[in-house]
Amino acid sequence: MTKLLGISGSLRTDATNTKLIREAARLFGDATYVEADLNIPLYNGDDEDRDGLPAAVQTLVQQITEADAVLISTPEYNSGITGVLKNALDWVSRSKPTPWTNKPVAVMSAAAGRAGGIRAQTMLRNCMTPFNVRLVAASEVAIASSGKEFDENGQLINERYQVSASRLMDALKAEIEHSN
Ligand SMILES: Cc1cc2nc3c(=O)[nH]c(=O)nc-3n(C[C@H](O)[C@H](O)[C@H](O)COP(=O)(O)O)c2cc1C
Repeated sequence: MTKLLGISGSLRTDATNTKLIREAARLFGDATYVEADLNIPLYNGDDEDRDGLPAAVQTLVQQITEADAVLISTPEYNSGITGVLKNALDWVSRSKPTPWTNKPVAVMSAAAGRAGGIRAQTMLRNCMTPFNVRLVAASEVAIASSGKEFDENGQLINERYQVSASRLMDALKAEIEHSN
């Protein structure tokens, strides 16, 4: 069975980005789903020189390695991705070998603003460029006014968003098959 890893750029308990990756995993269909915990130390080169990768980062690297595909959703903070997400990407980039090479990755965003965090999503794609992942970014999933777009079960209310998320998951499935 396909193994999906979800990475949310928000640590909030009620984070709409976490709801979005869970919803995307549901729409993907038959798959096992694991969620990353980005509550990891801030990157500090001194700490890395002394201790190597923290245990929480090693866990994340292992989760990426074991996943057939990764779903990442980022909020938009001041036109960019969150420090939490960038910190995690920076730590993982210090792992040798990298777990990212040829990994199918679907990117999404959810934000309070009218553009649904698309500027952050564009930045996320740029930040992933050095990792040689197989990035799936169409159809575009950028949930605007995200606090109002999920019902009490965490499902997307607006059918238009459900359709675009389903299409993105179809594209991800095709990418997974292509890489097998
Ligand atoms: C520091 C900070 C900066 C923000 N900047 C933006 C922004 O540039 N654009 C935007 O649409 N929303 C912005 N927001 C609002 C977030 O989109 C909103 O809090 C969103 O729900 C966060 O995602 P989450 O629900 O997954 O935590 C900002 C929020 C914070 C805390």
